Amino acid sequence: MKEIILSTVVKVCSYEELSPADRQLTDAAREAAKKSYAPYSLFNVGAAVRLDGGEIVCGSNQENAAYPSGLCAERTTLFWAGAQHPDKAVEAIAIAARDKDGEIEKPISPCGACRQVMLETEMRFDRPMRIILYGSRECYIIKGGTKELMPLSFSSDFLK
Ligand code: THU
Repeated sequence: MKEIILSTVVKVCSYEELSPADRQLTDAAREAAKKSYAPYSLFNVGAAVRLDGGEIVCGSNQENAAYPSGLCAERTTLFWAGAQHPDKAVEAIAIAARDKDGEIEKPISPCGACRQVMLETEMRFDRPMRIILYGSRECYIIKGGTKELMPLSFSSDFLK
Protein backbone atom coordinates (compact mmCIF):
# COMPACT_ATOMS: atom_id res chain seq x y z
CA MET A 1 0.00 0.00 0.00
CA LYS A 2 1.14 3.55 -0.61
CA GLU A 3 -0.04 7.01 0.27
CA ILE A 4 -0.55 9.97 -2.00
CA ILE A 5 -0.17 13.38 -0.42
CA LEU A 6 -2.30 16.09 -1.98
CA SER A 7 -1.33 19.61 -1.07
CA THR A 8 -2.69 23.04 -1.90
CA VAL A 9 -0.74 26.27 -1.95
CA VAL A 10 -2.75 29.28 -0.83
CA LYS A 11 -1.23 32.75 -0.66
CA VAL A 12 -2.68 34.79 2.19
CA CYS A 13 -2.56 38.56 2.02
CA SER A 14 -4.46 41.70 2.91
CA TYR A 15 -6.59 43.54 0.36
CA GLU A 16 -3.92 46.26 0.25
CA GLU A 17 -1.28 43.71 -0.68
CA LEU A 18 -3.16 42.54 -3.79
CA SER A 19 -1.66 43.55 -7.13
CA PRO A 20 -3.52 46.36 -8.97
CA ALA A 21 -5.00 43.83 -11.40
CA ASP A 22 -6.17 41.51 -8.62
CA ARG A 23 -7.56 44.46 -6.68
CA GLN A 24 -9.48 45.67 -9.73
CA LEU A 25 -11.05 42.23 -10.19
CA THR A 26 -11.78 41.95 -6.47
CA ASP A 27 -13.42 45.38 -6.43
CA ALA A 28 -15.63 44.28 -9.33
CA ALA A 29 -16.71 41.20 -7.32
CA ARG A 30 -17.35 43.35 -4.24
CA GLU A 31 -19.55 45.68 -6.28
CA ALA A 32 -21.33 42.74 -7.90
CA ALA A 33 -22.24 41.40 -4.45
CA LYS A 34 -24.32 44.53 -3.93
CA LYS A 35 -26.47 43.54 -6.94
CA SER A 36 -27.16 40.04 -5.64
CA TYR A 37 -30.74 38.82 -5.26
CA ALA A 38 -30.68 36.92 -1.97
CA PRO A 39 -33.88 37.62 -0.04
CA TYR A 40 -33.84 34.15 1.57
CA SER A 41 -30.28 33.69 2.79
CA LEU A 42 -29.47 37.42 3.05
CA PHE A 43 -26.00 36.32 1.97
CA ASN A 44 -24.90 38.37 -1.02
CA VAL A 45 -22.16 36.96 -3.17
CA GLY A 46 -20.42 38.62 -6.11
CA ALA A 47 -18.03 37.15 -8.64
CA ALA A 48 -15.92 38.75 -11.35
CA VAL A 49 -13.92 37.05 -14.06
CA ARG A 50 -11.19 38.47 -16.23
CA LEU A 51 -11.38 37.10 -19.76
CA ASP A 52 -8.55 36.64 -22.20
CA GLY A 53 -8.01 40.16 -23.57
CA GLY A 54 -8.78 41.83 -20.27
CA GLU A 55 -12.55 42.28 -20.23
CA ILE A 56 -14.14 41.86 -16.80
CA VAL A 57 -17.54 40.19 -16.49
CA CYS A 58 -19.49 40.11 -13.20
CA GLY A 59 -22.39 38.29 -11.62
CA SER A 60 -24.06 37.60 -8.30
CA ASN A 61 -26.13 34.93 -6.62
CA GLN A 62 -29.75 34.80 -7.74
CA GLU A 63 -32.11 33.08 -5.32
CA ASN A 64 -35.60 31.73 -5.80
CA ALA A 65 -38.58 30.85 -3.57
CA ALA A 66 -38.08 27.33 -4.91
CA TYR A 67 -34.61 27.23 -3.34
CA PRO A 68 -32.78 24.83 -5.71
CA SER A 69 -33.79 27.00 -8.68
CA GLY A 70 -31.43 29.72 -7.51
CA LEU A 71 -27.81 29.93 -8.61
CA CYS A 72 -24.51 30.91 -6.99
CA ALA A 73 -22.58 33.98 -8.06
CA GLU A 74 -19.72 31.98 -9.56
CA ARG A 75 -21.91 29.92 -11.86
CA THR A 76 -24.08 32.90 -12.81
CA THR A 77 -20.90 34.69 -13.85
CA LEU A 78 -19.17 31.82 -15.61
CA PHE A 79 -22.30 30.84 -17.54
CA TRP A 80 -22.89 34.44 -18.55
CA ALA A 81 -19.26 34.76 -19.65
CA GLY A 82 -19.51 31.50 -21.57
CA ALA A 83 -22.76 32.55 -23.22
CA GLN A 84 -21.48 35.98 -24.26
CA HIS A 85 -17.85 35.14 -25.01
CA PRO A 86 -17.72 31.44 -25.92
CA ASP A 87 -14.22 31.73 -27.37
CA LYS A 88 -12.54 33.56 -24.52
CA ALA A 89 -10.63 31.79 -21.78
CA VAL A 90 -11.18 32.86 -18.19
CA GLU A 91 -7.87 34.05 -16.78
CA ALA A 92 -8.95 34.84 -13.24
CA ILE A 93 -11.95 34.86 -10.92
CA ALA A 94 -12.52 36.90 -7.78
CA ILE A 95 -15.26 36.15 -5.26
CA ALA A 96 -16.57 38.39 -2.48
CA ALA A 97 -19.54 38.25 -0.13
CA ARG A 98 -21.51 40.33 2.34
CA ASP A 99 -24.19 39.64 4.90
CA LYS A 100 -26.35 41.87 7.10
CA ASP A 101 -23.20 43.16 8.85
CA GLY A 102 -21.42 44.13 5.64
CA GLU A 103 -18.50 42.41 3.93
CA ILE A 104 -17.54 39.09 5.44
CA GLU A 105 -14.15 38.91 7.12
CA LYS A 106 -13.10 35.42 6.06
CA PRO A 107 -12.36 34.72 2.38
CA ILE A 108 -15.42 33.21 0.75
CA SER A 109 -14.91 29.79 -0.76
CA PRO A 110 -16.83 28.52 -3.78
CA CYS A 111 -19.22 25.60 -3.22
CA GLY A 112 -18.56 22.20 -4.73
CA ALA A 113 -20.91 22.68 -7.69
CA CYS A 114 -19.23 25.97 -8.57
CA ARG A 115 -15.80 24.37 -8.33
CA GLN A 116 -16.97 21.74 -10.78
CA VAL A 117 -18.07 24.46 -13.22
CA MET A 118 -14.80 26.34 -12.71
CA LEU A 119 -12.92 23.14 -13.54
CA GLU A 120 -14.97 22.62 -16.71
CA THR A 121 -14.17 26.19 -17.80
CA GLU A 122 -10.47 25.62 -17.24
CA MET A 123 -10.49 22.37 -19.17
CA ARG A 124 -12.52 23.90 -21.99
CA PHE A 125 -9.81 26.50 -22.54
CA ASP A 126 -6.93 24.41 -21.26
CA ARG A 127 -5.98 27.15 -18.85
CA PRO A 128 -6.08 27.15 -15.05
CA MET A 129 -7.61 30.30 -13.61
CA ARG A 130 -6.15 32.48 -10.92
CA ILE A 131 -8.57 32.41 -7.98
CA ILE A 132 -8.90 35.33 -5.59
CA LEU A 133 -11.08 34.78 -2.53
CA TYR A 134 -11.85 38.06 -0.81
CA GLY A 135 -12.39 38.63 2.90
CA SER A 136 -12.22 42.04 4.52
CA ARG A 137 -9.66 40.71 7.03
CA GLU A 138 -7.59 38.71 4.54
CA CYS A 139 -7.63 37.38 1.01
CA TYR A 140 -6.56 34.04 -0.44
CA ILE A 141 -4.90 33.68 -3.83
CA ILE A 142 -4.77 30.28 -5.48
CA LYS A 143 -2.50 30.43 -8.48
CA GLY A 144 -2.76 26.85 -9.66
CA GLY A 145 -6.43 26.82 -10.57
CA THR A 146 -9.42 24.78 -9.44
CA LYS A 147 -7.50 21.51 -9.12
CA GLU A 148 -5.89 23.07 -6.05
CA LEU A 149 -9.33 23.47 -4.50
CA MET A 150 -10.71 20.19 -5.75
CA PRO A 151 -8.15 17.41 -6.10
CA LEU A 152 -9.21 14.00 -7.41
CA SER A 153 -11.95 15.72 -9.35
CA PHE A 154 -14.20 14.25 -12.00
CA SER A 155 -13.74 15.66 -15.47
CA SER A 156 -14.23 14.82 -19.14
CA ASP A 157 -10.94 12.88 -18.96
CA PHE A 158 -12.94 9.97 -17.56
CA LEU A 159 -15.39 10.04 -20.45
CA LYS A 160 -12.76 9.38 -23.11
N1 THU B 1 -23.43 31.21 -2.63
C1 THU B 1 -22.75 31.71 -3.71
O1 THU B 1 -23.28 32.48 -4.51
N2 THU B 1 -21.46 31.35 -3.86
C2 THU B 1 -20.77 30.58 -2.97
O2 THU B 1 -19.60 30.33 -3.19
C3 THU B 1 -21.42 30.06 -1.78
C4 THU B 1 -22.87 30.31 -1.66
C5 THU B 1 -24.82 31.65 -2.46
C6 THU B 1 -25.86 30.61 -2.67
C7 THU B 1 -27.00 31.16 -1.86
O3 THU B 1 -27.70 32.12 -2.64
C8 THU B 1 -26.31 31.88 -0.71
O4 THU B 1 -24.98 32.12 -1.14
C9 THU B 1 -26.29 31.12 0.60
O5 THU B 1 -25.81 29.84 0.42
